[in-house]
Amino acid sequence: MSTQLPNCIPGSPWLQLRHWIADPIQFQEKYSQLYGDIFTMQLAGLGFCVVIGNPQVIQEIFNRDSKQFDVGRANALAEPLVGRNSLMLLDGDRHRRERKLLMPPFHGERLHTYAQQICLIADQVASEWQVGQTFVARTAMQKVSLEVILQIVFGLSDGERYQQLKPLLTAWLDMTDSPLRSSILFLQFLQRDWGAWTPWGQMKRRQRQVHDLLQAEIEERRQTGHQGRTDVLSLMMAARDEAGQAMTDEELRDELLSILFAGHETTATTLAWALYQIHRLPDVRKNLVQELDSLGEHSAPMKIAQLPYLTAVCQETLRMYPVLPVLFPRITKSAMTIAGYQFDAETTLMPSIYMVHMREDLYPEAHHFKPERFLERQYSPSEYFPFGGGSRRCLGYAIAQLEMKLVLATVLSKYDLALVEDQPVQLRRRGFTLAPAGGVQMKMTGKRSTPIYSTSI
Ligand code: HEM
Repeated sequence: MSTQLPNCIPGSPWLQLRHWIADPIQFQEKYSQLYGDIFTMQLAGLGFCVVIGNPQVIQEIFNRDSKQFDVGRANALAEPLVGRNSLMLLDGDRHRRERKLLMPPFHGERLHTYAQQICLIADQVASEWQVGQTFVARTAMQKVSLEVILQIVFGLSDGERYQQLKPLLTAWLDMTDSPLRSSILFLQFLQRDWGAWTPWGQMKRRQRQVHDLLQAEIEERRQTGHQGRTDVLSLMMAARDEAGQAMTDEELRDELLSILFAGHETTATTLAWALYQIHRLPDVRKNLVQELDSLGEHSAPMKIAQLPYLTAVCQETLRMYPVLPVLFPRITKSAMTIAGYQFDAETTLMPSIYMVHMREDLYPEAHHFKPERFLERQYSPSEYFPFGGGSRRCLGYAIAQLEMKLVLATVLSKYDLALVEDQPVQLRRRGFTLAPAGGVQMKMTGKRSTPIYSTSI
């Protein structure tokens, strides 16, 4: 290496990797206090990574041509979960082609068609709660978000294949539900299939079962046709690139799994954090319920999605609780200077959502949940980026925000809930993501009277 990387953390790469896997938030807090808003860690097996909490540097990374960085290559750790054709693992022209094919189902008018389905799913899951009974908010929200993906993306809401896929996907995702169990994704020597009783063997078997079920669904759709269907899989099957080419079965399968992994845990976790803060802070709940009540009975879902305080609550939740400890790593393809910092080719840059979202100069009292800050001020794309930025910005940012708002509105307008414990809940690693430790224990304390969504959109 010829150019000195900024603020290299001394010490063993193995210890740094262990710290990073166990608690990436505490890691970033510790080293940003020591070194400021840019420092370099060395992770065993992964090499030097520059962690960046400086908005100017991040703005320049977002603005630069995507050809200057490799991102898919840097996401190789996710290949065992999502497959090698996943959008997340692609770079260059293939990445651009695939994004173009996948984008339309998640944006614009299309979203309106999903809105009511989301409300109905939230309603269905919440109707299982009994007054006085406790439940884990994250688990309940994961039920909602899995159902949203199965119905809206995969186009499955009943039948044998749906009944088989649902528990299989949940079991597969739960295999990395703690820092220790997540190690399997980072340590390649653990990725050996020594039989069904070993974690990796079990993971591979579940993966094969999921692949077989998805393949069968794709083949059936090819035979029966997808005319008139509005689910994302049907739209993906009908899409053609500039050369008139459709997506292959393998591409379809890997993209379905990418959307599942990228879209389902993230949304469920953020919703659990929102429920936690709303019920921890009586004023926030009061303002929110007042705003929802002001809409009156039977409001159209897209009207709910425009409510300013509800929007601010979701924005503040995404600020304080990033589901990814850092954005996808960007590997420089040539030597470059970014905002005055020099980097050699092959340097791994990791913009940190957490470090920027916790900056006191941007967010005074950053550790306090204050939705009002989003009503009072606008933030630039490098000051606030829960969904990343540039050419890799989250594909599902629009549907994720819509889902958050509609689920919160449906639940809060019908039920009175409370936290079971008043202890602060900590962030804990769950696979590649961060989630509330313990999942946030809640209980239903009563039912309210008015449904909020309408049957006409
Ligand atoms: C609250 C929910 C969500 C959060 C916080 C979130 C956040 C993110 C972030 C931070 C990235 C990386 C962006 C970058 O490095 O610049 C990302 C990428 C991605 N997200 Fe999301 N996401 C959420 C929900 C979803 C949903 C619902 C879907 C699908 C419907 C989805 C699909 C994707 C995909 C496919 C990528 C990879 C994009 C690419 O490589 O071009 N996400 N997301």
